[in-house]
Parts: sequence; C-alpha cells; structure tokens
Amino acid sequence: MRKYKNFRCFFRLATIKKITLVQFRNYSSRTFEFDAGVTCITGPNGSGKTNLLDGVYYLCYTKSYFTAYQQQCVKLGLDGFRVEGAFDNEVIACKWQLGKKELKANGVEYEKPTDHIGKYAAVMVAPDDLELINDGSEPRRKWVDSILSQTDRGYLECLMRYQRVLQQRNAWLKLHGSSANPNYVELEYYDAQLAADGTYIHNKRNAFVRAFLPYLQAYYEQLTEGKEVVSIDYQTDMHQQTLAAWLQQSLQHDMRLQRTLRGIHKDDLLFVLNGTPVKGFGSQGQKKSFLFALKLAQYKYLSGILGFKPILLLDDVFEKLDQQRMEALLRIIRGADFGQVILTDTHEERVKNAFGDDAVISVIQL
Ligand SMILES: Nc1ncnc2c1ncn2[C@@H]1O[C@H](COP(=O)(O)OP(=O)(O)OP(=O)(O)O)[C@@H](O)[C@H]1O
Ligand SMILES: [Mg+2]
Repeated sequence: MRKYKNFRCFFRLATIKKITLVQFRNYSSRTFEFDAGVTCITGPNGSGKTNLLDGVYYLCYTKSYFTAYQQQCVKLGLDGFRVEGAFDNEVIACKWQLGKKELKANGVEYEKPTDHIGKYAAVMVAPDDLELINDGSEPRRKWVDSILSQTDRGYLECLMRYQRVLQQRNAWLKLHGSSANPNYVELEYYDAQLAADGTYIHNKRNAFVRAFLPYLQAYYEQLTEGKEVVSIDYQTDMHQQTLAAWLQQSLQHDMRLQRTLRGIHKDDLLFVLNGTPVKGFGSQGQKKSFLFALKLAQYKYLSGILGFKPILLLDDVFEKLDQQRMEALLRIIRGADFGQVILTDTHEERVKNAFGDDAVISVIQL
C-alpha cells in the first residue's frame, strides 16, 4: 500500500472514501467505496465509468468537469440530482434541483457556497483534454482560471467582476459606438474597473506561469525520458503597456467594431516544445506527453499551495498511452508526491498488468 504515514504530518488528508449518486447521469441511486490508494473502475462502454469520476469531481468543485450545464447531469427525464461524498473528516452533500443548488458539509448548509472552494481538489485527465492544446485560446484561459480560482479567492472575484464589466462596456460600445454624443463618464468607470481587475489577473497569471514551468519541464522529461525543452509563453497585450493605456488607445477601434479588443480576455498560453509551438508542430505523441505533463504539473502546483494532495482522476488513459509512457506515468503517480488515484478502464486485466502483481488496487466493477 501507499505510504500515507509519511505525509500525514505534513498534509491535510482530503481523500474520498465513499460516494452516493442519486439521479446523477445514468445512475438512479448507487453507492461506491474508494481505496485511499488506487481504485480502478472497470466496465464496458457506456456503463457509467466516466460519470462516476465526474461525480467525484462534482463534489470537489460543485460542478461537472465535462459540462457547464448542470441540467445535463440530471438523469434524463427527472428534475434534479444529489451527490453525497464521505471524505476523511466530513460528508459533503450537494443537491441540484430545477436550477437551485444546495450544498452541505456534515448536514449544515454553507453560509456562502464559495466557502467550499479550496477544501477539496481533483485533477482530471480525460480523453478530450487534448483540446487544451489543439483548440483556440479559450480552453487554455479557462484552465489557468480554474487553477488560480482554487488557490486565490481574490482571483475568482476579480475575474467575475471583469467579465461582468466587460459585458457592460461592450453594451456601451454598441449603444454609443455610432452616437454623436457618447456618455464618456460611464465609459471611464468601466475602463477603471477593467484596468484594476485586469492588472490583478495579469499579475497572477504571470506569476503562475513562472512557478508552474519547472514542474512542467520536470514531468515532461520524466514521461519522455528525453531532453526536449518545454516551455509556456504567456501571450498578453499587457506585456507592452498597461490595460488602462490599451483601453484608451484602442477606443476608436473598439467603437467601430462595438466590442473591447484589448484585455486579459484575449490572453493566451503558447505551449512550446524545443522552440516551436506544440499546437502546429508537435506530433500526436508529443502532444499527449505535453498534456500529461501539464496535468501532473497542475497536480503538483495545487498540492503545494493547497497543502493537501488532490484526487487524481484518470479517465481511460491506458487506452491512449504506449507502454513506455504508461510505465513512466505509473512511476510518477505512485511516487510520494501523489495521493489518491481513481481511474477507469474497460479492461481490468490491463490495469492490473500495468500496476504489477504486488500492487494493491481496489476494483469497482460496473
Ligand atoms: N443525464 C443523463 N441521463 C441519463 N443517462 C446519461 C446522462 N448523461 C449521460 N448518460 C449516459 O450514461 C451512460 C454512461 O456514460 P459514461 O460516459 O459514464 O460511460 P463509460 O463507462 O465511461 O463509457 P466509455 O467506456 O465508452 O467511456 C451513457 O450511456 C450515457 O448516454
Ligand atoms: Mg468513459
């Protein structure tokens, strides 16, 4: 078994022991128990493996990893669901019904749902995650935002306010863009707000990339057993000048196009391998390795700041990995930096072989 004694004195435990899913996705009502080490969920396609992982993720963040629409988590034809999980020291229960969410810890409703943020954490690796590398900038911004929102309460507040004010500014641009006598007082207020929150968010993203890079490089090397250099280039308007200056400078342009063209909502992260962008030049294998390194580094970054080890959720990863990378991944996740692992696979044997005979793995057969 894993060496829990070693980190108990340094880390708060945040492992999940049991989960009950009621009217969640394909489940009517089922309870599952997890090992503190490795739990493998097996079963044929469509049996609910991914949904069970998502249930665990849901308890950590009170949202699904796969959809922003909570209604999609409700078992078809019904109007609500409930997810309850027993963690080491408390029971978290979340009920969602007709758009209303109720979140309780040990039977007591949170005064503010945001009090739940940062208590538990999970890092999911799922087959569609390659969109983080292949798609436009939005999934990458969301990825950074999801990490920083967990580790810094002010970040989430700033981000939400920034997005709200950005919408207001864009509405102003639509209304006044072609007006002969625009109300600049209102605009000044929006610009000041955007500049203040945008600067905070920019500084945090900048610091994050710097702190994150050494982890990324280390895991990429371990996964590929190579010496390729990986890097992240934080691309932002704010490297050149302040957001306040940009907003002022591009106002005429913004008014013509009736939307705000400069700001942290345009930021991107360029993933780089040996000096060239992974997106355009990386091979399939290099992209996969980069993605895994990103997720492992995310785990390491989060555990360092939160002070406990997140739950690692691996959906179907063995299906997609070749032998060498699979062995490397296993070596990493069974090392001292990692805690509870819950993974899915259609073949129990494949997982057992991968982990080796001496490994203690509990299996949930769906
Ligand atoms: N809201 C919902 N209500 C009812 N069923 C749902 C809902 N959402 C998803 N499902 C169904 O749940 C089933 C299980 O899905 P899931 O993705 O968990 O399967 P899986 O075991 O991971 O399969 P695979 O091995 O193909 O990845 C699917 O048939 C899916 O259509
Ligand atoms: Mg699945």
